[in-house]
Amino acid sequence: MKILSGIQPTGSIHIGNYLGAIKQWVELQEKNECIFFIADLHSLTIPYKPEELAKNIIEAAIAHLAAGIDPQKSIFFVQSDIKEHTELCWLLNTVCPVGELQRMTQYKEKTKQFKKNINAGLLVYPVLQAADILLYKAEGVPVGKDQVQHIELARTIARKFNQRFGKVFPEPKALLPKIGAKIMALDNPKQKMSKSLGPQSYISLFEDSKEIKKKIMSAVTDTGKVIKYNPNRKPGISNLLTIYSLFSEKPIKELEKKFKDKGYAYFKKSLTQLLIDSLEPFRKKRKELLSREVFVKETLKVGAKRAQPIAESTIHETRAKMGLA
Ligand code: ADP
Ligand code: TRP
Repeated sequence: MKILSGIQPTGSIHIGNYLGAIKQWVELQEKNECIFFIADLHSLTIPYKPEELAKNIIEAAIAHLAAGIDPQKSIFFVQSDIKEHTELCWLLNTVCPVGELQRMTQYKEKTKQFKKNINAGLLVYPVLQAADILLYKAEGVPVGKDQVQHIELARTIARKFNQRFGKVFPEPKALLPKIGAKIMALDNPKQKMSKSLGPQSYISLFEDSKEIKKKIMSAVTDTGKVIKYNPNRKPGISNLLTIYSLFSEKPIKELEKKFKDKGYAYFKKSLTQLLIDSLEPFRKKRKELLSREVFVKETLKVGAKRAQPIAESTIHETRAKMGLA
């Protein structure tokens, strides 16, 4: 299957991003043709500092390489290096109903969050995302749950385009992890773990041991003592069990048995150690890459060179179908 996904260069990545999205990318690249990119154009739709953007792009690239994206196996580049993304976005704008865009949950949330900067880019954001996907004729898009609505809109856009102009695009599908599609915030297990909730809500993929310990030991749990998975009644402990299960690759059932009567503190100590050990290789790799910025930049350029001919060929085909030739 042809796989594609993107990530915005906003802040460091946390274990929610990793378990919900990146871990799948790393697994998928073993057996599939994969394309991954830093979605810098998408990140322009919310307030940012131009002088910090270049640094944030490199840092995001380093974070993803450290997390396991292998540029030998996958095509890995920066979105704005390929001009065809914006060209296809414009062409697709002409088949995308504006009502669909106004219905998007992320659009509604962002217009609430950034009341003073409700720019047209925020509205068109999902069309650019559809262009990212359709430009490479991707079939599978590994993302977390919050992005599913955007992928469905990309399907709709592909269908509408194909109906009107003749078939160019396959209809892409979101690929969700079976568990871990929604890791909850440590300080509020009723909300999704997110950069925008602040550092207390998440553990960075590169967090040091002291911080991991502090955050896990103070993670909000429910009353009671029994370690049992029940996301409705016990959202806090269930979230920690999910995280434990995904990093240890042990089923939740087995963990429930193992920790049943041991109490929350004991379970949290064990989870702390598991996370310290699991995240160590990511920290090390990131540190190494931070000192090899030239290599990272070169890697991204090579990625763009591999992406370019695919993008050009699709644009050529799309223009022809639309009568632009
Ligand atoms: P954030 O909400 O922290 O800003 P992004 O919106 O940048 O995260 O999401 C990047 C990727 O990580 C997306 O594919 C998204 O679906 C996934 N993701 C984000 N938060 C979580 C979470 N808490 N659990 C699982 N996946 C997540
Ligand atoms: N909107 C996605 C996010 O915030 C990032 C993204 C941009 C993306 N283009 C994409 C994801 C194409 C999948 C496919 O996480």
